[in-house]
Amino acid sequence: MKQKLIAGNWKMNGNLAANESLIRALLAAVQQPVATVAVCVPSVYLAQIQHLLAGHPIDLGAQDISAHEAGAFTGEVSGAMLKEFGVRYCIVGHSERRQYHAESDALVASKTQRALASGITPIVCVGETLADREAGKTEEVVKRQLAAVIHENGHCISEIVVAYEPVWAIGTGKTASPEQAQQVHAVLRAQLKAASSQAERIQIIYGGSMNAVNAAQLLAQPDIDGGLIGGAALKAADFLTIIDAAR
Ligand code: PGA
Repeated sequence: MKQKLIAGNWKMNGNLAANESLIRALLAAVQQPVATVAVCVPSVYLAQIQHLLAGHPIDLGAQDISAHEAGAFTGEVSGAMLKEFGVRYCIVGHSERRQYHAESDALVASKTQRALASGITPIVCVGETLADREAGKTEEVVKRQLAAVIHENGHCISEIVVAYEPVWAIGTGKTASPEQAQQVHAVLRAQLKAASSQAERIQIIYGGSMNAVNAAQLLAQPDIDGGLIGGAALKAADFLTIIDAAR
């Protein structure tokens, strides 16, 4: 059985003091984790968190990556830069970036490629809005988003992580039911299988108001290989409970 991946998405939260106490609380409890654990932090804090995590079994992640290798791209952070700070995972195509920064499927596919080329595992986010779901378009939307990534990345697709994050569940306290999530994960799994003989080992994780109470049920679904956790990743006790639920 593949290990589950529990990744925290801190979004634009934290400060030096709060980061340190959160990481110290996690490290005190996570000694031999039963799951792969990562924290995806704001890029200005990568050096701080890299230092705190050194020698410990929690991986470092970033929240975005430039589609470009280097050059005149003010404000962007390259894959090579992330790699220098020990970044192992990078969230790509989060719905907040698709929505507030107009990231297209094509751009998300290019960022995925840039992460892979930099030796960083992209956590590629897909998910439908409430309007999409109500219009019966959930499958169509997530398949279109994933197809763009598969198209540009070919056989390297087996190296990615996919995060199914229904937009209506993010930060709202409304979680997809385990059955709803499993249904979409199965669709994504089938799509990956059609593209890669290695699809079985690709981790498909769920995100969207996963918390200490609902994690165990979601993680028990056959195609849910972990979680991408926003709000609950900022509270050590909650994040630790979720990690524990991934055994
Ligand atoms: P949430 O965020 O857990 O706060 O809903 C998840 C995410 O956006 O990755």
